[in-house]
Amino acid sequence: MPGPLEPGREERAALAEDVLNVIQDWIDRADTMPASGVDLDDALTARLMAPPTETGRSLESILADVDDAGKSGVFHPSGGHLSYIPNAGLFTGALGEFLASGLNRYTGVSGAAPGMAAIEHGMVRWMASLFDMGDTASGLILSGGSMANLTAIVAARTARLGDEFTRGVIYVTPHTHHSVEKAARIAGFRGDQIRVVGIDTDLRMDPDALAVAVDRDRRDGLDPFLVVGSAGTTDTGTVDVLSQLAPVAETEGLWLHVDAAYGGFFQLTDRGRTVLSGIEKADSVSVDPHKGISIPFGAGALLVRDEAHLIDANQGRGAYLREEDHDSGLRDIAALGPELTRPFRALQMWLPLHLHGVAPFREALDVSLDLASHAYTRLGGIDGLETPWAPDLSIVAFRFADDDLGRRALESINEERMVHLSPTTISGRLVLRFAILNRRTTRDHIDHAIDMIEKTLVG
Ligand SMILES: Cc1ncc(COP(=O)(O)O)c(C=O)c1O
Repeated sequence: MPGPLEPGREERAALAEDVLNVIQDWIDRADTMPASGVDLDDALTARLMAPPTETGRSLESILADVDDAGKSGVFHPSGGHLSYIPNAGLFTGALGEFLASGLNRYTGVSGAAPGMAAIEHGMVRWMASLFDMGDTASGLILSGGSMANLTAIVAARTARLGDEFTRGVIYVTPHTHHSVEKAARIAGFRGDQIRVVGIDTDLRMDPDALAVAVDRDRRDGLDPFLVVGSAGTTDTGTVDVLSQLAPVAETEGLWLHVDAAYGGFFQLTDRGRTVLSGIEKADSVSVDPHKGISIPFGAGALLVRDEAHLIDANQGRGAYLREEDHDSGLRDIAALGPELTRPFRALQMWLPLHLHGVAPFREALDVSLDLASHAYTRLGGIDGLETPWAPDLSIVAFRFADDDLGRRALESINEERMVHLSPTTISGRLVLRFAILNRRTTRDHIDHAIDMIEKTLVG
């Protein structure tokens, strides 16, 4: 039916072209854009927060607002973005997402779009195969690592404790991503049910300390059930020695969840496979396509060794869900996770992976590893800097002998805006970090930041 909600073919093409041009301009500027922008002023904030009118306005004025909205904050496409966990986003991933929402097929129950469900199950199977998780492996694509960690904790809780989990204990380290603790609280655990296990000087979970803590908790009448290993902490990119955590988990009957949201896709590389060795023993793994392989934000995956555990934790019934809609032979994705209606997330990774093949993704990850080695070597040769942790993957963490100088260097780098860094704190000391995961990051970005650090040191 014609009307403002149903533009005709030509109008659709014109609207799409205007939107595409905004994206084209943004990407064309990516190689030279600074790593961060100007402050968002109050007048613009008010304009952007204005409610829609009754009669609408031109797409031109709407896109002008989007352009203004995009001028502040941290610019993820820039190769100078070395803060947090970078993600430059792939244009082809955006096309996949556009295609998915343009087709707007429903992938909660497989019978509603069996072909689309097959695409998603295929992506999950491919990711699980990277971690050698075996034939019973399954999983789903969620909005990101936080939801993947939450879904893993609920699956582990259901599998190991059932409905009575008030005495359950979860083991983490001081460097486990905060989404795990947050997820545990959402899943109904109290703070005193989370045990922070000791780490070694390399910041890895100490397997002996884990065994001791589990033993003590058992003797106190508690129910140890879950250990969360990290395959790349956000602070320093450190990978726990998973091949040592796995036997402790097995002996103690703990579910081993590995948070590989940042580091998991390094499994595509030879060096990554060596560092992540032992991950194949995990009961579940979180891995974020929207980190390691540059898929636009909104794609994290949870993989589990045994699908039955996800089903136990997530299956629901409703009279309105008709059995005949379920006959595709493919598992309903809604039965594997918390969502019923959900975006068809698989397409935003399936399209680029099928279009480009896997090799360019592997190469980009290898380049990040090379750049991290380069940064670590250069930083290690500078008087006044301390580099206590050799990078396991592509995050290089270092500190100034004097924290105040470190703060000054951080400020001047971020004020200059060619590179953007985000710091962390370890044992009360300010730690700067280069998080290298953006395919546009070059040696020049790294060297520029290090040159500025040297300048700060010489005053
Ligand atoms: C190790 C790790 N786990 C989990 C998360 C949370 O992922 P998300 O931001 O996709 O929810 C992050 C985010 O940076 C992370 O680095």
